[in-house]
Amino acid sequence: MATDAQKNLIKVAKRSDLPEGTMCSFDVNGKRILIANVAGKYYAIGAICKHAEWDLAEGTLDGYKVECLGHGAVWDLRDGTAEFQEDLPREPVYEVLVNGEYILVNPEPISGNE
Ligand code: FES
Repeated sequence: MATDAQKNLIKVAKRSDLPEGTMCSFDVNGKRILIANVAGKYYAIGAICKHAEWDLAEGTLDGYKVECLGHGAVWDLRDGTAEFQEDLPREPVYEVLVNGEYILVNPEPISGNE
């Protein structure tokens, strides 16, 4: 029987859409969510930069870090925190699971600010 958390999981992409070292943003239940493949493991955080709302998918992925193309904030995919010249609220962090060829996301954040 599915738990409440499993019921919330939404099929967002195919694994073939996100090879290692790539990231993409998706609309999931009205939220823009960034999913990245870091060495075969998937991470999901809010895709809209908390600084001035650039889409983080336009930035650069380097390991667990995403550098925003807008003004250079560097976001950590593991906890949604940013390194920047000013304090920024955390991006929401979402649960990601793989089921067969699909990547599923729970749009209820584990942590962070929506
Ligand atoms: S919009 Fe991302 S750093 Fe300014």
